[in-house]
Amino acid sequence: MFVITFANPKGGSGKTTSAMLLAEQIALSGGQVAILDLDPNANILAWARGRKEAGREVPFAVHARPQAEDTVALIDGLEAGTDYLIIDLEGSKDQIVTFALSRTDLCVIPMDGSPMEARQAAQAVRLVETTSRMIRSPIAYTLLFARTNAAFLTTDERDVRQEMESNNINTLPVRIARRAPYTRIFRDSLLLSELPDLVAEELKGKTVSVVDKAQKQVASAIENARDYAQAVIDALTQGRAS
Ligand SMILES: Nc1ncnc2c1ncn2[C@@H]1O[C@H](COP(=O)(O)OP(=O)(O)OP(=O)(O)O)[C@@H](O)[C@H]1O
Ligand SMILES: [Mg+2]
Repeated sequence: MFVITFANPKGGSGKTTSAMLLAEQIALSGGQVAILDLDPNANILAWARGRKEAGREVPFAVHARPQAEDTVALIDGLEAGTDYLIIDLEGSKDQIVTFALSRTDLCVIPMDGSPMEARQAAQAVRLVETTSRMIRSPIAYTLLFARTNAAFLTTDERDVRQEMESNNINTLPVRIARRAPYTRIFRDSLLLSELPDLVAEELKGKTVSVVDKAQKQVASAIENARDYAQAVIDALTQGRAS
C-alpha cells in the first residue's frame, strides 16, 4: 500500500481538494483507493455522505478521524485491501499529523505561488523532516503548486519555484490551477467525471457557444487532474525506487 498524505499548516492551501482529485483519478484507473479524513472539518466524509444520500456510489472507502493514538493502527489495518491510502490532514501541528506522517510514503504539500504561503510550506517541510528523524526513515515529500492561475505563471510563482529548486526541495512538475469545477465537486458531492454529462443536461437549450465554453472548462479541469495524478504517481514510484 502506498500512503500519500496532504499536509500544510496553512489552512485553505488546497489539501482537501488536491486529495480528492487524486483519489478520483486513481480510482478511475482501477486502483483500490481509501481516504482517511483527518481534517476536523471532515469535508470528504461530508462529500461521501452527500453522494450516498443522493443514491450515487462512492468509488473509494472514506474513513473518519480516529482517536490520535489509534491512527497508526488504523492505517496499518487498511494495508490488506488498499493500493493507495490518501490522507487529508488538518491545517495544524496536532500530534495526529506526526502519526500520519510516520506511515507516509509521499507527503504532498500544496500551496499557491505566493512568498507568504512558501514560508508556511517550509514549516510543513520541517515537520516532515523532523518526523523522518524521529522514525529514522526518510519520508519523501514534494511541494504542489495549487490554486494557481490557469492562464499564466505569475512572477511570484516562478520565483518561489526557483527558490525551492535552489534549496533542493522537490516541486511537482504539474500544478493544479484554480478552476470552478474543483469547487463544484464539493458543493454538489460530485465526481469530476460526472460533470460533462451534467453540464450538457443543465445547459440544454443554451447556445452552442455557451455549451462549448462550459464543456471546455470541464475538459481542462479533467485533463489537469489527470496530469497531476500521473505526476504524483511518478513521484511516488521514484521515491520508492530510491
Ligand atoms: N484548485 C482549486 N480550484 C478552485 N478552488 C480551489 C482549489 N483548491 C482549493 N480551492 C478552494 O479553496 C478553499 C480551500 O481549499 P481546501 O479546502 O482544499 O484547502 P485545505 O488546505 O484542505 O483547507 P483546511 O486547512 O481548512 O483543511 C476551498 O473553498 C476550495 O474549494
Ligand atoms: Mg482541508
